Amino acid sequence: MRYLSDGTFLKYRNFIYDKFGINISQDKKEMLQSKLLKLIVKSRCESYEEYFRILTQGYDKESLFEFSNEITVNKTDFFRENNHFEFIKSSEDFIIDKNKRIRRNNEIRVWSAGCSTGEEAYTLSIVLLEHFLQGLNIKILGTDINSNVLKQAIEGVYSSTIKNNIDKYYLLKYFKKCERGWKASETIRRLVTFRLFNLMDDFPFKKSFDLIFCRNVMIYFDSKVQQRLIDKFYDVLVPGGILFIGHSESLTGKKHKFQYLKPTIYIK
Ligand SMILES: C[S@@+](CC[C@H](N)C(=O)[O-])C[C@H]1O[C@@H](n2cnc3c(N)ncnc32)[C@H](O)[C@@H]1O
Repeated sequence: MRYLSDGTFLKYRNFIYDKFGINISQDKKEMLQSKLLKLIVKSRCESYEEYFRILTQGYDKESLFEFSNEITVNKTDFFRENNHFEFIKSSEDFIIDKNKRIRRNNEIRVWSAGCSTGEEAYTLSIVLLEHFLQGLNIKILGTDINSNVLKQAIEGVYSSTIKNNIDKYYLLKYFKKCERGWKASETIRRLVTFRLFNLMDDFPFKKSFDLIFCRNVMIYFDSKVQQRLIDKFYDVLVPGGILFIGHSESLTGKKHKFQYLKPTIYIK
């Protein structure tokens, strides 16, 4: 049972692509095999085929959650790729001039798409609270397909290594020391709502966003899925809204109506 045949690998690979948009290349076969073995033992299945049937029949939602939790890569940090946050800090006038809705509604709506354990969303809370219009209603949505990371995000407890990535001033102001490290304070937690959401699904949002952060997520998708996602992001941004993508990502070679502002920063 240890060996994952090329045929079965292909079945899993197609399933992961169709369901989550994630592209598992041939050189990741061994990595997938070891993750599958763990899941198969846990679910007491006898073969890759049996586990595949359980996953794809769609009756066992728990197995599907467990599966997506295992195959996603969740690395993240506070103030990761900090030039995006520096851009927000120094561009308040530009952002509200391009997007009149912010002042009109006294509200900023932000989406951290693929938020992992919540560091990106909480960093946005801090930056907007500290450096954006005083008294502004800040609404941040954090979504991910991995239910484990979302649990951690909601809990908002981070290990002491948080100190390596966050200014002492912010740490003491927005976190409380606790047994397991540092817990995000109510001040930043109340600005963020976390939800389980698959970016492959139709976007269900009734109101558009002012800023979208989708960083280090599209690298796992192929060009076709990236294109679909870029179009969907464009549709749910308000005119003058801004899209931030990861440093190793780019819209070059994609068809889109965004205007380029800076590397990895685009405006509608
Ligand atoms: C590497 S983390 C990036 C976290 C954060 N955006 C950052 O840049 O630090 C990528 C996240 O995207 C999520 N993800 C992958 N495919 C997804 C999908 N189809 N729908 C929603 N989230 C997805 C993963 O679960 C993971 O938490």
